Amino acid sequence: MYKSYWGLELKPFENTPDPRFFYTSAQHEEALTRLIYGVRESKGAVMLTGVFGCGKTLLSQVLLGELDRDVYRVAMIQNPMLTSVELLRSIAVRLGATGLPTLKTEILKDVLLDTISELLLENYNDGKQSVILLDEMHVIEDKMIFEDLRMLLNNQLQDHFLCTLIFMGQPELRKHIEVNKQLNQRIAIRYHVDAFDLENTIAYIRHRMKVAGAQRDIFEETALSLIFQKSGGIPRRINQICDMSLFIGSSHEFSTVTPALVTDAAKSLEG
Ligand SMILES: Nc1ncnc2c1ncn2[C@@H]1O[C@H](COP(=O)(O)OP(=O)(O)OP(=O)(O)O)[C@@H](O)[C@H]1O
Ligand SMILES: [Mg+2]
Repeated sequence: MYKSYWGLELKPFENTPDPRFFYTSAQHEEALTRLIYGVRESKGAVMLTGVFGCGKTLLSQVLLGELDRDVYRVAMIQNPMLTSVELLRSIAVRLGATGLPTLKTEILKDVLLDTISELLLENYNDGKQSVILLDEMHVIEDKMIFEDLRMLLNNQLQDHFLCTLIFMGQPELRKHIEVNKQLNQRIAIRYHVDAFDLENTIAYIRHRMKVAGAQRDIFEETALSLIFQKSGGIPRRINQICDMSLFIGSSHEFSTVTPALVTDAAKSLEG
């Protein structure tokens, strides 16, 4: 709506995990490096935690883009609010299982675990590495689910894991995993992503504006600092405030985004 007013080619602050806009802050780069290392070196289990809206799901999409489809078979679970059997079934299907009975008929968990083991071995024999990426895992409190997932790590050849499990979620996820001591010990790589500091908030906003095609500095310096204060450096909040500022600014024909505009935008977002 405001794209042409500000001379942009894309909407810069959509709240979708779009890898084109990926800003490699030091911590996002470190997170990505660790994820890639965990997968490439078959480290078993990897955990990425972070406050809400700080870029975990985006990192999963960027990771996906980095993994060669000829080498990696990725089962991505974005909404794990499932029963244990449903979750294992989803994993099996995403790893390539066909002809599984529908959920309306009984499927035994053991059968699913066996099916997944066979798929992991098949993938391995086909020269493919299997990756199971579970996003939003902080919503899972059922201890049995973490235990079932741990069982998947028992698929090993000598000291080579047949799959890499990636757990992503908000900070509570750490506690849910810690109670399963054996699983916790198997997490070979972990990383935590926090909100941006002022410097990164400013660089983040400029980066997204540039990717969107901005030809000039639309956000005033003082407006950028105010966005940091109002958002706490959380990318999702930064996006909301910036989007609203650009929207209000265009409808009132501002030539730049000023601190007053940011204050208005932040106020209109308060619930
Ligand atoms: N490093 C980054 N570069 C570009 N955009 C980012 C970055 N980090 C976060 N974002 C953007 O912020 C928004 C929220 O990110 P995302 O959905 O990945 O957060 P999340 O950590 O998965 O949140 P939640 O815990 O609520 O699931 C998205 O629009 C995303 O594109
Ligand atoms: Mg997410």
